[in-house]
Amino acid sequence: MTAGERATAPGKPNTGRTATADAAQDADRTGGSSLLRVADLSVRIAGLHILQGVSFEVASSGVTVLLGRNGVGKSTTLRAILGLTPRNGAATGSVRLGGEEILGRPTHALVKAGLGFVPEDRCVFAGLTVAENLRLAERTDTPDYDLVFGLFPELSKRAKQRAGSLSGGQQQMLSLGRVLLNPNKLLLIDEPTKGLAPKVVTEVAEALERAAQAVPVLLVEQNLAVVRRLAGDAVVIAAGQVAWTGPGERLLADPALTKSLLAVNAAGGH
Ligand SMILES: Nc1ncnc2c1ncn2[C@@H]1O[C@H](COP(=O)(O)OP(=O)(O)OP(=O)(O)O)[C@@H](O)[C@H]1O
Ligand SMILES: [Mg+2]
Repeated sequence: MTAGERATAPGKPNTGRTATADAAQDADRTGGSSLLRVADLSVRIAGLHILQGVSFEVASSGVTVLLGRNGVGKSTTLRAILGLTPRNGAATGSVRLGGEEILGRPTHALVKAGLGFVPEDRCVFAGLTVAENLRLAERTDTPDYDLVFGLFPELSKRAKQRAGSLSGGQQQMLSLGRVLLNPNKLLLIDEPTKGLAPKVVTEVAEALERAAQAVPVLLVEQNLAVVRRLAGDAVVIAAGQVAWTGPGERLLADPALTKSLLAVNAAGGH
């Protein structure tokens, strides 16, 4: 393991250090350049201990990718950061945005503070037009339509089309566009390319790449070709904890590691 990588959490001996002390030392090590610090995050839902002390950081620029096999808790991690753990669940630990503790704050306050969320299921209003979907998402007097239509010209062309009749890729672009209208400190985006045709995956990846030049992104993504294109840092969750962190390209360059952590073949690139 090299300096850029961090200790594998499962089986890590208990050193008696607190999560807060760990986070503070992490801040020293990274020179304080992280935007979001998740420390010892645990989530229980309906009696199941889904996240068991997850710790990682999100850089203040570019894309940090969150990876892991199906069902390990990637969406649960994003939702816990956003205060969206269900009522029959509980989240403990620490999530700091720009140094401020945010775990447990209500979702609407976090969105107002600049966390933009694009959920896995896209959640567009099918019966409303593209323009109406965008208008409903406006949170400021100066929504950035230039940015959104610059990234997704298709949304401008299809302003009057009902969102329910858009293709999957177009709905994904609408979902991203709604968030990008507003000023954001960080975007949390959950599997934006899931279920899309390869050509559309490339289009969405290109748009994300350009969006990430304006706003840092924490991205859950299973498509390794997209990870290869976008990832700065990678964080891999396994068995409820962080199993590996380091530069995304280093993870993808090691087929044995990718296979053991993700059960996929990086060479194939999907
Ligand atoms: N509301 C809930 N009630 C019960 N179990 C839940 C709930 N939400 C998540 N889980 C469980 O928590 C685990 C993690 O789910 P999560 O959706 O976070 O996984 P994921 O890594 O995003 O998976 P995928 O790659 O399939 O999207 C799963 O076993 C899931 O069944
Ligand atoms: Mg998920």
